[in-house]
Amino acid sequence: MKVHDAWQLSIKDMAMLQPPRHRPGSKRPMWIIVLVSLVCVSLIGAYVYPPRRFSACYFFASNVCSPFKDWLPLTTVPSRELTDDEIASRVVIKDILAMPSVPSKNQKIAFMFLTPGTLPFEKLWEKFLLGHEGRFSIYVHASREKPVHVSPFFVGRDIRSQKVEWGKISMIDAERRLLANALQDPDNQHFVLLSDSCVPLHNFDYVYNYLMGTNISFIDCFKDPGPHGNARYTAHMMPEIAEGDFRKGSQWFSIKRQHALLIVADSLYYNKFKLYCKPGFEGRNCYADEHYLPTLFYMVDPTGIANWSVTHVDWSEGKWHPKAYRAKDITYELLKNITSIDQSFHVTSDEKRLVMQKPCMWNGMKRPCYLFGRKFYPETLDKLMNLFSNYTAI
Ligand SMILES: *[C@@H]1O[C@H](CO)[C@@H](O)[C@H](O)[C@H]1NC(C)=O
Ligand SMILES: *[C@@H]1O[C@H](CO)[C@@H](O)[C@H](O)[C@H]1NC(C)=O
Ligand SMILES: *[C@@H]1O[C@H](CO)[C@@H](O)[C@H](O)[C@H]1NC(C)=O
Ligand SMILES: *[C@@H]1O[C@H](CO)[C@@H](O)[C@H](O)[C@H]1NC(C)=O
Repeated sequence: MKVHDAWQLSIKDMAMLQPPRHRPGSKRPMWIIVLVSLVCVSLIGAYVYPPRRFSACYFFASNVCSPFKDWLPLTTVPSRELTDDEIASRVVIKDILAMPSVPSKNQKIAFMFLTPGTLPFEKLWEKFLLGHEGRFSIYVHASREKPVHVSPFFVGRDIRSQKVEWGKISMIDAERRLLANALQDPDNQHFVLLSDSCVPLHNFDYVYNYLMGTNISFIDCFKDPGPHGNARYTAHMMPEIAEGDFRKGSQWFSIKRQHALLIVADSLYYNKFKLYCKPGFEGRNCYADEHYLPTLFYMVDPTGIANWSVTHVDWSEGKWHPKAYRAKDITYELLKNITSIDQSFHVTSDEKRLVMQKPCMWNGMKRPCYLFGRKFYPETLDKLMNLFSNYTAI
């Protein structure tokens, strides 16, 4: 990294950090100006007279350069003065993202089920999990009625829950409640959100290696300029969230521990969505579960997310709801079709209907995109049970 790049960045960032000019009795501006001058002089000195034995940035890198260099994980550096909440929020987010992952000898995946009640596919999940005890944890948030568990893996795994209303912030609250519960176990390193209509598309080892073998989170994220995207944005989200940062994506995420912690820690962006992204607000139907996480991660860690979800759903019929699979639909061919998809699709909701298609890249390799499938009717259970070892054989 070039010395003068660091210098330019640190000056820009320092300027933003300065408190308002007219604050009587404050000694900080003077203190900061002196510090800036010292940094400048040292860096210019280091640039003009590069030392032989010690690189100046070796010294500064650990103390001065790097904290300012990556102070803002944001895609765009705003030229405005940050609010108190933003300064606080950014420092917390920055430290969470910089945290090394806590070493754990026994890394587990947390499967978090968001369901109204009983889970129709417990027996299928049991088949998927059997023999892998110690490498997963289960959490169930049942928002309407107490589930009847038919698999020992799910017994006693219900967390305290609250009512969830479709499209409302209570959906995000339930996700955060699941994450907070799952984070209590330090062995949980990856967190998968699933619904009652979700089924596994691969065997356990495949899923485990896929999720644990990469440093990115699978959060769906794209820009939709149409009525189901940016038209849901409101200027009330300013100044923290600009319209250009508003994103859309599927609710069903699969994320690493750092990102789970970040979601639980965030209150600034969460509150913006709680207040201003809800059905019927100012004549707009905004659904926080389709926008909060895509927008948050686009802003704070865009390269840390895959931009697609590992949970498949079929929107190809172009209806208001995705295709839901009936028992008669379930064949080996259907499952092989879904598991062989290796491109992610996004379509804008404006009149252009722009189709964005991208290869699913995993650690630089093109791989199948999907590990789980969504929208299976309970009646598909028997057929899926019979086919499971067949369609999940690699
Ligand atoms: C993930 O990041 C850590 C620390 O940056 C690194 O040591 C590790 O090799 C990375 N793992 C993968 C699979 O990229
Ligand atoms: C996801 O999209 C962002 C831009 O929004 C990009 O910077 C990032 O590299 C993408 N992630 C991956 C893994 O390609
Ligand atoms: C599987 O994919 C092929 C090729 O796209 C298609 O012709 C076929 O109808 C699909 N089958 C099922 C059951 O979805
Ligand atoms: C799975 O079923 C298909 C169709 O019935 C069959 O052709 C294939 O050999 C089976 N594969 C395995 C691994 O059992």
